[in-house]
Amino acid sequence: MEERKGFRSYFGFLMAAVGSAVGLGNIWGFPFKMGKGGGFAFLLIYLVLAAVCGAVVMLGELALGRKTGQNAVTAYRAVSSRFGWVGALAPVTAMLILSFYSALGGYCIRYLVLNVGCLFGTEWGANGLSGATVFAEATADGGMAVVYGMIFMALTAVIVALGVRGGIERFCSVGMPLLMAMLAVIILRACTLPGAAAGLRFMFVPDFTPLREDFMGVLRTAGGQMFFSLSLAAGVMITYGSYTEKKQHLARSAVTIVLCDTAVGLLAGMAVLPAAFALGAPESAMQGPALLFITLQDVFSGMGQMGFVFGIIFYGLVILAALASSVSMLEVPVAYWTDRQRQKGDKKRRRWPAVLCLTVLSGALCAITCADGLGGNGVWVPFQRFFAGAEKIPAFCDCWLDFLDMLSEGLLMPLGALLTCVMIGWVIKPETIRAEVEQEDNRFKTYRFYRICVRYIAPAVIALILWGQIRAFFG
Ligand code: TRP
Repeated sequence: MEERKGFRSYFGFLMAAVGSAVGLGNIWGFPFKMGKGGGFAFLLIYLVLAAVCGAVVMLGELALGRKTGQNAVTAYRAVSSRFGWVGALAPVTAMLILSFYSALGGYCIRYLVLNVGCLFGTEWGANGLSGATVFAEATADGGMAVVYGMIFMALTAVIVALGVRGGIERFCSVGMPLLMAMLAVIILRACTLPGAAAGLRFMFVPDFTPLREDFMGVLRTAGGQMFFSLSLAAGVMITYGSYTEKKQHLARSAVTIVLCDTAVGLLAGMAVLPAAFALGAPESAMQGPALLFITLQDVFSGMGQMGFVFGIIFYGLVILAALASSVSMLEVPVAYWTDRQRQKGDKKRRRWPAVLCLTVLSGALCAITCADGLGGNGVWVPFQRFFAGAEKIPAFCDCWLDFLDMLSEGLLMPLGALLTCVMIGWVIKPETIRAEVEQEDNRFKTYRFYRICVRYIAPAVIALILWGQIRAFFG
């Protein structure tokens, strides 16, 4: 059988894994949730959750991947017959996320183009319109959104098709350091705006009231954010883990990825919140699509010509972050596909057909999401009619973006993470993970802590998160 090639270097692996983790979640979710959830108090909870759940699941996935040397689907099957089916959830979750993630990535490209247009005063610029109007037009124009969504998907597909080394590793090794440099430029600009300090105060000043008033709510927010932000429970870390070498210390890698991801979340906050506060934006415009596509565009437009240069840098960095994430999602099913070809001894084994088929599949869902705008274009209506027989239509079911997000992030991810913890903690036993970490003289010093987390703490916390989500789903 032909050799299964992985990452060329440890740096390449780290950049790919951090690239997967760092994405839209960090830029538009983390800063605001931290500010709302009590600043440093929230950060503390987030870090504890990341340590007892995030890093634990991450290490489990990395070890599972490297131990079996297989893709996410067959990795589960290889270690447990009873939990083998859990692996099948991974490509489904990854493809679902990929489809709406690409729709958003498409909007980012559109905004990059928009700022180039503004800079040169062409008609495809903002033409002096406010961010809200530009965004309303962008979402209402379903056709255009589909085109940009497809451009984003195509970029993702090309990088993945070029291979683990030639595509993903090379892109992330250059893209991630570049992203940090661009982020530094934006932070400098944002923090020197008049009124910027209010943004930093919002995000960093500790406030324990939210924790006292609604501890469960904060826990659920922090937990959901963490799973999505760390790219867990969609097979990404299993797949990337299968591309690393035995001499690498997996436990240390898992902690490094978590810390880098949190650091970028904090840095992104220092870039976007001061700018939003300097503009005097309402709180509702400080997170999600509104932050990225309305508030910040207003900030850039308000700075004169130089503002568009910053706009180009900013949307450029968001596109880099989003692409490094989307390639990781596409790689999950592609790895499964190519592994199967390898097993069958297929001589003409190629990545292209796999990438093409999976891109078309996910692209179709992406196109629906794009055409729907943010639900305003009514693409969901026929489905609503279909579900109308049901007693109660859940509130989020009027928008494709929210529906796909809820299905993947809200349900499939916590479910996958829970099952993974139960499998590692109780079926294949934490010793298996220890043996995988302690290869080639590596020592797993925090093993006892890990064991307690994976058997008791993580399953309990994830079950709590899942329970909260299900209640929201049917509530
Ligand atoms: N972590 C990415 C972000 O914060 C999103 C992401 C990439 C992801 N790969 C994933 C989320 C796999 C869930 C599963 O934007």
